[in-house]
Amino acid sequence: MQSTGNDRQKIGAMFDAVAPRYDLLNRLLSLGIDRYWRRCAVRWLQLPSQGTVLDAASGTGDVALEIARRTPAELQVVASDISAEMLCRGREKMLASAHGQRFFVVRADCEALPLAADLCVGATIAFGIRNVADRPTALRELCRILQPGAQLVVLEFSEPLHPLFRVCYQFYFHRLLPFLGGLLSQAAAYRYLPDSVQRFPSRGAFKELLSEAGFAGVAHRDLSGGIVTLYRGQVPKESTPAVGR
Ligand SMILES: C[S@@+](CC[C@H](N)C(=O)[O-])C[C@H]1O[C@@H](n2cnc3c(N)ncnc32)[C@H](O)[C@@H]1O
Repeated sequence: MQSTGNDRQKIGAMFDAVAPRYDLLNRLLSLGIDRYWRRCAVRWLQLPSQGTVLDAASGTGDVALEIARRTPAELQVVASDISAEMLCRGREKMLASAHGQRFFVVRADCEALPLAADLCVGATIAFGIRNVADRPTALRELCRILQPGAQLVVLEFSEPLHPLFRVCYQFYFHRLLPFLGGLLSQAAAYRYLPDSVQRFPSRGAFKELLSEAGFAGVAHRDLSGGIVTLYRGQVPKESTPAVGR
């Protein structure tokens, strides 16, 4: 599916509007578990001790910060996003951290990253790929900017597999969360969240998208009963030149 400038503008505007309360709502609505999910995502990404790591759709930068916390100072972290307001909050947090010098903040669409082919030694995208209209293009872009052998870790919401848990989760996600989100932030954004999760491909279908984009050894791991899923893929070591990927 080809995304339009209009789609991108709407998504960007929605995240600009929620940016001031984004972190607060994340903590409240997930009861703080979102931090654990991001930590798991970063732990699952195997990285060398130096080079450049990309956190795409970085938003307010929590994954980028976690990468910096867990890795040596020789590793630079690029945080990219289409929303200027989200990035602005992220930049403030990065500058206030002990790792301020290691971050580069870039306003960019992950369907067209302004990064050289084979630049990065690893990449993450947390709760971002669901919002991207043309996912195959974005995944190919992520593959293009990674060096052969480098990994991508994706963190995304899922539908829990256990039927009873799924019923409770659906009540929370489709009823309570939009209500609370509406009280504390932008109602439309917190109605969009469960809808977008429902439209997101199944675990198997998303792994196929990763393989089609050029990733090998694609695997997934459910966390918290399958509320969220981590996906990991690696650019083949004997990869064709990035231009052709
Ligand atoms: C739910 S937030 C996740 C932010 C952050 N990764 C986190 O873990 O909290 C989704 C982010 O994706 C960004 N986004 C949506 N579509 C994008 C695109 N095509 N390219 C880059 N960023 C995008 C939004 O602006 C927003 O900041």
